[in-house]
Amino acid sequence: MEKEYLESISKAAAYLKDKGMEKPVVGLILGSGLGELAEEATNPVAIPYENIPGFPVSTVEGHAGQLVYGELGGKMVLAMQGRFHFYEGYALEDVTFPVRVMKALGIETLVVTNAAGGVNTSFNPGDLMIITDHVNFTGVNPLIGKNDPEVGPRFTDMTEAYDKGYQQLIRECAQSNGLEIKEGVYFGLTGPTYETPAEIRMIRTMGGDAVGMSTVPEVIVAKHAGLKVAGISCITNYAAGMQSNLNHNEVVEVTTRVKESFKSLVKDFVAKV
Ligand code: HPA
Repeated sequence: MEKEYLESISKAAAYLKDKGMEKPVVGLILGSGLGELAEEATNPVAIPYENIPGFPVSTVEGHAGQLVYGELGGKMVLAMQGRFHFYEGYALEDVTFPVRVMKALGIETLVVTNAAGGVNTSFNPGDLMIITDHVNFTGVNPLIGKNDPEVGPRFTDMTEAYDKGYQQLIRECAQSNGLEIKEGVYFGLTGPTYETPAEIRMIRTMGGDAVGMSTVPEVIVAKHAGLKVAGISCITNYAAGMQSNLNHNEVVEVTTRVKESFKSLVKDFVAKV
């Protein structure tokens, strides 16, 4: 890890601390259509990504999103409303930069969320899935390159990428909120194409239950940084070949439909974690 990169992490963290983002304990990465949860934070401080020094500069249309700090479920949280994807053309060190900054600000727990296609034939659009593990099928890894042992180990253990205790806590939170919850393996690809039906058959054979284009790089970096991770996917569609076609509107529609359950589940988890 280059010195300039480490310096830019400290700089961004110092800037955010100066804006009042002191001592967050939980970081949240809110996926497509799931950003509304951040609006439940009380006494919020929100800063657009473009104002944060060192944050990736949005190369595509519109705003990339914002960082929201506030109290949620009795805890100080730092929530990313929108994330950076590899398929947008960002380097993986940019995709994962916010995780490094959240770690520098003091979070101990990272909750990652995403919209994903359902590969497991027992899943339906609208299901919420506890991510029990992932498969990095992106062909790349954000930790490739020089390692700084002060930041994390050269060889990061991914045995329990998604904390087992957190998985159990999500199950309990689902139950106490009267929500049915699925669980399974998130299979991460780069996108931006959706998969072919042949790829989905392969993914199922290879142990994937859900498929998506995010999350894996962020979780790898979170583990490198020594964070405990919880992951929740919102299944927005049957994966390719299991329904007539795929489009992003459907992804957004389904997240809108389930966002209330999603919000109560994650809020309860944050309160109890
Ligand atoms: N494939 C990949 N990413 C996705 C999908 C999908 O079917 N649905 C939502 N994100």
